[in-house]
Amino acid sequence: MSNNLITPDFRFRRLRRTSALRELVRETHLRMSDFILPIFVEEGITEPVAIKSMPDVYRYPESQLADVVTRAWNKGIRAVLLFGVSTHKDEVGSDTWAQDGLLARIIRTAKNAQPEMLVISDNCFCEYTTHGHCGVIHEVYDHKHDVDNDATLINLQKQVVIAAQAGVDMIAPSGMMDGMISAIRQALDDAGFTHIPVMSYSTKFASAFYGPFRDAVDSSFKGTRNTYQMDFSNPREALAESMQDEAEGADILMVKPGTAYLDILAHIRANSARPLAIYHVSGEYAMIKAGAAAGVIDEKAIVLETMTAFKRAGADLIITYYAENLADWI
Ligand code: PBG
Repeated sequence: MSNNLITPDFRFRRLRRTSALRELVRETHLRMSDFILPIFVEEGITEPVAIKSMPDVYRYPESQLADVVTRAWNKGIRAVLLFGVSTHKDEVGSDTWAQDGLLARIIRTAKNAQPEMLVISDNCFCEYTTHGHCGVIHEVYDHKHDVDNDATLINLQKQVVIAAQAGVDMIAPSGMMDGMISAIRQALDDAGFTHIPVMSYSTKFASAFYGPFRDAVDSSFKGTRNTYQMDFSNPREALAESMQDEAEGADILMVKPGTAYLDILAHIRANSARPLAIYHVSGEYAMIKAGAAAGVIDEKAIVLETMTAFKRAGADLIITYYAENLADWI
């Protein structure tokens, strides 16, 4: 053996010569079981509504949800993430814990359509509150208002039990309340749902990349979520947020958004043995679509490269509006 760790004239190109060789030594692979498809369901509409900023993404009427889930299943998608867009909004988002509220109904509809499909619910309040915040609002000081963490947790506990009773396979709380995983775990366990896992939006940044999502859910929301979602300048805090949720019992951790946060993802990967998800969010989707429409990028190639980057950086699961396209591409 030579003293040199690297042979000076080593030729990396030897293993790049043919497609079969490149495939043989490829370190990262995409499979359909990596992907989770988000689905938006709106109350009170009868036809799908196109989302302007997100070409090919729709808000579907409840009457079409079964067909949408079946179409996804037939394409090879095995997990969906359900978002309800409510017309029964109030100050606290009480429809989310109504026995026959939108959240409970869409879970039941999706499960009935494809009992084997993994049905995940986005558990939040912002699409169910008149003010569009992710929880209960209270006055803090000087007539300023903010989301009341602990009052929101109590409502979240009611919401997740209703979701579990409706047959959900996994709970995905996205509101970034402190203590949300402990509160959810306790509520599920007390109600007999010890077997239902929780995928926490554990490191979720306050991000301009969510812009088109607001369009998608027709959000009445004005303002920012800076008092509960994370400051994107803080990598140490980003790790601590996910470690805290792991300690509270989260089964799967998540980083959101995706592309601009690969450093965060890799850091959490190095510090946790839990499965990790990444959310390729609305703005990332919209930017690729806009670039493709302008003829300046190759959509399929960009998407495959982006998804591979997520896995390479440590993601086990990818939530993406491109899931159905990926079924055609991989
Ligand atoms: C709400 C929620 C948001 C997203 C998922 N759940 C938006 C937000 O926090 O403002 C973003 C999804 C996307 O942009 O694709 N808690």
